[in-house]
Amino acid sequence: MSTTSQNQVATSRWAADWNIWRCPKCRGELNAGESVTALACPGCGARFPIEDEILIVQEQTTANNQVAQGFYDSPLWPRFRFWEKFTWLCNGGERRARQQVLRYLPDAPALDLLDVAIGDGVYLDWLPAGWRIAGVDLSRSQLDACRRRAAGRSVWLAQCEAEDLPMAGHQFDAVLSIGAFNYFNDPEAALREMVRVARPGAPIVISDEMPNLTDRMLGHKLGIPGLDRWIVSRLMHLGDAFTDLVERHRGLDIPAIAGRVLKEFRVEPVWRGLGYVLVGQVPA
Ligand SMILES: C[S@@+](CC[C@H](N)C(=O)[O-])C[C@H]1O[C@@H](n2cnc3c(N)ncnc32)[C@H](O)[C@@H]1O
Ligand SMILES: [Zn+2]
Repeated sequence: MSTTSQNQVATSRWAADWNIWRCPKCRGELNAGESVTALACPGCGARFPIEDEILIVQEQTTANNQVAQGFYDSPLWPRFRFWEKFTWLCNGGERRARQQVLRYLPDAPALDLLDVAIGDGVYLDWLPAGWRIAGVDLSRSQLDACRRRAAGRSVWLAQCEAEDLPMAGHQFDAVLSIGAFNYFNDPEAALREMVRVARPGAPIVISDEMPNLTDRMLGHKLGIPGLDRWIVSRLMHLGDAFTDLVERHRGLDIPAIAGRVLKEFRVEPVWRGLGYVLVGQVPA
Protein backbone atom coordinates (compact mmCIF):
# COMPACT_ATOMS: atom_id res chain seq x y z
CA MET A 1 0.00 0.00 0.00
CA SER A 2 1.38 3.47 -0.83
CA THR A 3 2.08 5.91 1.99
CA THR A 4 -0.79 8.15 0.86
CA SER A 5 -3.36 5.38 0.94
CA GLN A 6 -2.03 4.19 4.30
CA ASN A 7 -2.56 7.74 5.61
CA GLN A 8 -6.05 7.79 4.10
CA VAL A 9 -6.96 4.61 5.99
CA ALA A 10 -5.49 5.98 9.21
CA THR A 11 -7.26 9.35 8.97
CA SER A 12 -10.68 7.99 8.01
CA ARG A 13 -10.30 5.57 10.94
CA TRP A 14 -9.90 8.57 13.23
CA ALA A 15 -12.95 10.31 11.87
CA ALA A 16 -15.32 7.39 11.54
CA ASP A 17 -14.46 4.64 14.00
CA TRP A 18 -14.63 6.57 17.24
CA ASN A 19 -16.32 9.92 16.99
CA ILE A 20 -15.10 11.42 20.26
CA TRP A 21 -12.78 14.15 19.02
CA ARG A 22 -13.85 17.73 19.55
CA CYS A 23 -12.19 21.07 18.96
CA PRO A 24 -10.62 22.37 22.19
CA LYS A 25 -11.18 25.93 20.96
CA CYS A 26 -14.93 25.84 20.16
CA ARG A 27 -15.99 22.23 21.04
CA GLY A 28 -17.06 21.68 17.42
CA GLU A 29 -16.96 18.16 16.01
CA LEU A 30 -13.65 17.35 14.33
CA ASN A 31 -13.67 15.53 11.03
CA ALA A 32 -11.21 14.46 8.38
CA GLY A 33 -13.04 15.93 5.39
CA GLU A 34 -10.83 15.56 2.33
CA SER A 35 -7.65 15.62 4.38
CA VAL A 36 -5.46 12.58 4.73
CA THR A 37 -3.21 14.07 7.38
CA ALA A 38 -5.37 16.06 9.81
CA LEU A 39 -8.69 16.49 11.58
CA ALA A 40 -10.31 19.88 11.14
CA CYS A 41 -13.00 21.92 12.88
CA PRO A 42 -15.57 23.27 10.41
CA GLY A 43 -16.78 25.65 13.16
CA CYS A 44 -13.64 27.72 13.77
CA GLY A 45 -11.30 26.44 11.07
CA ALA A 46 -8.73 24.97 13.49
CA ARG A 47 -6.70 22.11 12.06
CA PHE A 48 -4.99 19.34 14.02
CA PRO A 49 -2.41 17.17 12.23
CA ILE A 50 -2.19 13.42 12.67
CA GLU A 51 1.46 12.41 12.73
CA ASP A 52 2.45 8.77 13.05
CA GLU A 53 -1.10 8.02 14.21
CA ILE A 54 -0.98 10.63 16.98
CA LEU A 55 -3.45 13.51 16.92
CA ILE A 56 -1.45 16.67 17.61
CA VAL A 57 -3.74 19.04 19.47
CA GLN A 58 -1.27 21.02 21.55
CA GLU A 59 2.51 21.01 21.26
CA GLN A 60 3.43 24.14 23.22
CA THR A 61 2.86 24.16 26.96
CA THR A 62 3.66 26.51 29.82
CA ALA A 63 4.66 26.47 33.51
CA ASN A 64 4.57 23.03 35.22
CA ASN A 65 3.35 21.28 32.11
CA GLN A 66 6.33 22.63 30.20
CA VAL A 67 8.68 21.34 32.90
CA ALA A 68 7.05 17.88 32.73
CA GLN A 69 7.06 17.87 28.94
CA GLY A 70 10.73 18.86 28.86
CA PHE A 71 11.61 16.14 31.36
CA TYR A 72 9.71 13.30 29.67
CA ASP A 73 11.09 14.28 26.27
CA SER A 74 14.66 14.42 27.62
CA PRO A 75 17.37 11.83 28.33
CA LEU A 76 16.74 12.34 32.07
CA TRP A 77 13.54 10.27 31.93
CA PRO A 78 15.11 6.87 31.10
CA ARG A 79 17.66 7.49 33.86
CA PHE A 80 14.90 8.29 36.38
CA ARG A 81 12.97 5.22 35.28
CA PHE A 82 15.51 3.05 37.06
CA TRP A 83 14.21 4.50 40.35
CA GLU A 84 10.62 3.96 39.33
CA LYS A 85 11.41 0.29 38.61
CA PHE A 86 13.21 0.07 41.96
CA THR A 87 10.07 1.33 43.72
CA TRP A 88 7.97 -1.30 41.96
CA LEU A 89 10.48 -3.98 42.97
CA CYS A 90 10.10 -2.95 46.63
CA ASN A 91 6.33 -3.31 46.21
CA GLY A 92 6.20 -6.86 44.91
CA GLY A 93 7.09 -6.18 41.26
CA GLU A 94 5.61 -3.74 38.75
CA ARG A 95 2.55 -5.74 37.83
CA ARG A 96 1.49 -6.35 41.43
CA ALA A 97 2.26 -2.76 42.42
CA ARG A 98 0.25 -1.31 39.53
CA GLN A 99 -2.56 -3.75 40.24
CA GLN A 100 -3.13 -1.89 43.52
CA VAL A 101 -4.45 0.92 41.31
CA LEU A 102 -5.74 -0.92 38.22
CA ARG A 103 -8.03 -3.07 40.37
CA TYR A 104 -10.35 -0.08 40.79
CA LEU A 105 -11.18 -0.15 37.08
CA PRO A 106 -14.32 -2.08 36.07
CA ASP A 107 -14.01 -5.82 35.56
CA ALA A 108 -15.43 -5.88 32.03
CA PRO A 109 -14.23 -7.55 28.83
CA ALA A 110 -15.11 -4.48 26.75
CA LEU A 111 -15.27 -0.81 27.66
CA ASP A 112 -14.09 2.64 26.62
CA LEU A 113 -11.22 3.91 28.78
CA LEU A 114 -9.56 7.30 28.85
CA ASP A 115 -5.98 7.28 30.14
CA VAL A 116 -4.82 10.78 31.06
CA ALA A 117 -1.01 11.07 30.91
CA ILE A 118 -0.65 7.59 29.44
CA GLY A 119 3.11 7.95 29.01
CA ASP A 120 4.57 5.01 27.13
CA GLY A 121 1.60 2.82 28.10
CA VAL A 122 3.71 0.37 30.04
CA TYR A 123 0.66 -1.32 31.62
CA LEU A 124 -1.41 -1.66 28.43
CA ASP A 125 -0.68 -5.38 28.25
CA TRP A 126 -2.35 -5.85 31.63
CA LEU A 127 -5.62 -4.28 30.49
CA PRO A 128 -8.15 -6.49 28.65
CA ALA A 129 -7.51 -6.71 24.91
CA GLY A 130 -11.17 -5.87 24.22
CA TRP A 131 -10.92 -2.40 25.76
CA ARG A 132 -10.94 0.63 23.49
CA ILE A 133 -8.46 3.11 24.93
CA ALA A 134 -7.90 6.80 24.29
CA GLY A 135 -4.59 7.99 25.70
CA VAL A 136 -3.49 11.60 26.06
CA ASP A 137 -0.12 12.98 27.04
CA LEU A 138 1.91 16.08 26.37
CA SER A 139 5.21 14.34 25.67
CA ARG A 140 5.62 13.39 22.04
CA SER A 141 8.38 10.87 22.72
CA GLN A 142 6.24 9.10 25.33
CA LEU A 143 3.33 8.97 22.88
CA ASP A 144 5.60 7.59 20.14
CA ALA A 145 6.76 4.83 22.49
CA CYS A 146 3.16 4.13 23.48
CA ARG A 147 2.09 3.86 19.85
CA ARG A 148 4.80 1.28 19.21
CA ARG A 149 3.75 -0.70 22.28
CA ALA A 150 0.06 -0.52 21.36
CA ALA A 151 0.46 -1.79 17.79
CA GLY A 152 -2.49 -3.99 16.87
CA ARG A 153 -4.69 -2.74 19.72
CA SER A 154 -7.57 -0.29 19.71
CA VAL A 155 -5.55 2.56 21.22
CA TRP A 156 -5.99 6.16 20.08
CA LEU A 157 -3.42 8.75 21.10
CA ALA A 158 -3.49 12.53 21.28
CA GLN A 159 -0.93 15.11 22.34
CA CYS A 160 -2.69 17.61 24.58
CA GLU A 161 -2.93 18.86 28.14
CA ALA A 162 -4.99 17.04 30.76
CA GLU A 163 -6.59 20.38 31.60
CA ASP A 164 -8.12 20.77 28.11
CA LEU A 165 -9.22 17.46 26.61
CA PRO A 166 -10.13 17.47 22.89
CA MET A 167 -13.14 15.23 23.43
CA ALA A 168 -16.91 15.39 23.61
CA GLY A 169 -18.65 14.93 26.96
CA HIS A 170 -19.90 11.59 28.34
CA GLN A 171 -17.74 9.29 26.17
CA PHE A 172 -15.87 7.00 28.58
CA ASP A 173 -16.84 4.14 30.89
CA ALA A 174 -13.79 4.78 33.07
CA VAL A 175 -10.92 7.26 33.41
CA LEU A 176 -7.43 6.39 34.63
CA SER A 177 -4.45 8.61 35.42
CA ILE A 178 -1.27 7.26 37.03
CA GLY A 179 1.83 9.17 38.01
CA ALA A 180 1.11 12.69 36.81
CA PHE A 181 -1.77 14.36 38.70
CA ASN A 182 0.27 16.10 41.43
CA TYR A 183 2.25 18.20 38.95
CA PHE A 184 -0.36 19.21 36.41
CA ASN A 185 -0.58 22.99 35.96
CA ASP A 186 -4.09 22.75 37.38
CA PRO A 187 -5.00 19.36 38.90
CA GLU A 188 -8.54 20.51 39.73
CA ALA A 189 -9.21 21.63 36.15
CA ALA A 190 -7.88 18.28 34.92
CA LEU A 191 -10.22 16.41 37.28
CA ARG A 192 -13.16 18.51 36.03
CA GLU A 193 -12.22 17.56 32.47
CA MET A 194 -12.09 13.87 33.37
CA VAL A 195 -15.57 14.14 34.87
CA ARG A 196 -16.87 16.03 31.83
CA VAL A 197 -15.79 13.37 29.33
CA ALA A 198 -16.85 10.36 31.45
CA ARG A 199 -20.26 8.73 31.33
CA PRO A 200 -22.58 9.02 34.37
CA GLY A 201 -21.54 6.48 37.01
CA ALA A 202 -18.05 6.00 35.54
CA PRO A 203 -15.16 5.51 37.96
CA ILE A 204 -12.32 8.03 37.91
CA VAL A 205 -9.11 6.40 39.16
CA ILE A 206 -6.16 8.71 39.85
CA SER A 207 -2.92 7.72 41.46
CA ASP A 208 0.39 9.40 42.19
CA GLU A 209 3.00 9.58 44.90
CA MET A 210 2.13 11.30 48.18
CA PRO A 211 2.71 15.02 47.49
CA ASN A 212 4.84 15.37 50.63
CA LEU A 213 6.87 12.22 49.93
CA THR A 214 10.20 14.00 50.42
CA ASP A 215 9.30 14.44 54.13
CA ARG A 216 10.29 10.80 54.49
CA MET A 217 13.73 11.29 53.06
CA LEU A 218 16.95 11.27 55.04
CA GLY A 219 17.72 14.98 54.66
CA HIS A 220 14.34 16.04 56.06
CA LYS A 221 14.82 13.69 59.00
CA LEU A 222 18.33 15.05 59.66
CA GLY A 223 17.21 18.65 59.10
CA ILE A 224 19.31 18.96 55.91
CA PRO A 225 16.71 19.43 53.12
CA GLY A 226 19.53 20.35 50.71
CA LEU A 227 20.67 16.72 50.87
CA ASP A 228 17.26 15.53 49.65
CA ARG A 229 17.32 18.09 46.89
CA TRP A 230 20.68 16.75 45.73
CA ILE A 231 19.42 13.14 45.90
CA VAL A 232 16.26 13.88 43.92
CA SER A 233 17.80 16.20 41.37
CA ARG A 234 21.16 14.52 40.76
CA LEU A 235 21.20 10.97 42.10
CA MET A 236 17.66 10.17 40.96
CA HIS A 237 18.10 12.29 37.81
CA LEU A 238 14.89 14.29 38.12
CA GLY A 239 16.80 17.48 37.28
CA ASP A 240 16.56 20.91 38.91
CA ALA A 241 13.36 22.14 37.26
CA PHE A 242 11.35 19.05 38.15
CA THR A 243 12.82 18.94 41.68
CA ASP A 244 11.61 22.53 42.19
CA LEU A 245 8.18 21.49 40.97
CA VAL A 246 8.03 18.60 43.44
CA GLU A 247 8.92 20.97 46.27
CA ARG A 248 6.36 23.57 45.18
CA HIS A 249 3.55 21.01 45.18
CA ARG A 250 4.37 19.26 48.45
CA GLY A 251 1.28 20.79 50.10
CA LEU A 252 -1.19 19.69 47.43
CA ASP A 253 -4.42 18.65 49.19
CA ILE A 254 -5.84 15.76 47.15
CA PRO A 255 -9.02 15.16 49.24
CA ALA A 256 -9.83 18.90 49.12
CA ILE A 257 -9.48 18.97 45.32
CA ALA A 258 -11.59 15.83 44.96
CA GLY A 259 -14.22 17.23 47.33
CA ARG A 260 -14.68 20.36 45.19
CA VAL A 261 -15.34 18.29 42.06
CA LEU A 262 -16.84 14.95 43.11
CA LYS A 263 -19.64 14.06 45.52
CA GLU A 264 -18.52 10.45 45.97
CA PHE A 265 -14.86 9.59 46.31
CA ARG A 266 -12.26 8.04 48.57
CA VAL A 267 -8.50 8.45 48.85
CA GLU A 268 -6.47 5.43 49.96
CA PRO A 269 -2.75 4.79 50.41
CA VAL A 270 -0.95 2.45 48.01
CA TRP A 271 2.66 1.21 47.69
CA ARG A 272 3.22 1.04 51.47
CA GLY A 273 2.05 4.62 51.85
CA LEU A 274 4.40 6.04 49.20
CA GLY A 275 1.44 6.79 46.97
CA TYR A 276 -2.31 7.33 46.97
CA VAL A 277 -5.20 6.29 44.83
CA LEU A 278 -8.20 8.58 44.47
CA VAL A 279 -11.30 6.71 43.34
CA GLY A 280 -14.27 8.85 42.46
CA GLN A 281 -17.56 8.29 40.75
CA VAL A 282 -19.13 10.55 38.16
CA PRO A 283 -22.66 11.43 39.36
CA ALA A 284 -25.33 9.25 37.69
C1 LIG B 1 5.42 9.22 35.32
S1 LIG B 1 4.74 9.37 33.70
C2 LIG B 1 3.36 8.27 33.90
C3 LIG B 1 2.99 7.55 32.64
C4 LIG B 1 2.02 6.39 32.83
N1 LIG B 1 0.71 6.86 33.27
C5 LIG B 1 2.60 5.37 33.80
O1 LIG B 1 2.06 5.22 34.89
O2 LIG B 1 3.60 4.75 33.46
C6 LIG B 1 3.93 10.96 33.69
C7 LIG B 1 3.38 11.37 32.33
O3 LIG B 1 2.51 12.48 32.52
C8 LIG B 1 2.60 13.32 31.39
N2 LIG B 1 2.03 14.62 31.77
C9 LIG B 1 2.49 15.46 32.72
N3 LIG B 1 1.71 16.55 32.82
C10 LIG B 1 0.71 16.39 31.90
C11 LIG B 1 -0.42 17.19 31.53
N4 LIG B 1 -0.68 18.37 32.11
N5 LIG B 1 -1.22 16.71 30.55
C12 LIG B 1 -0.96 15.53 29.94
N6 LIG B 1 0.09 14.74 30.26
C13 LIG B 1 0.92 15.16 31.24
C14 LIG B 1 4.08 13.30 31.07
O4 LIG B 1 4.36 13.73 29.77
C15 LIG B 1 4.42 11.82 31.33
O5 LIG B 1 4.33 11.05 30.15
ZN1 LIG C 1 -13.25 24.84 16.53
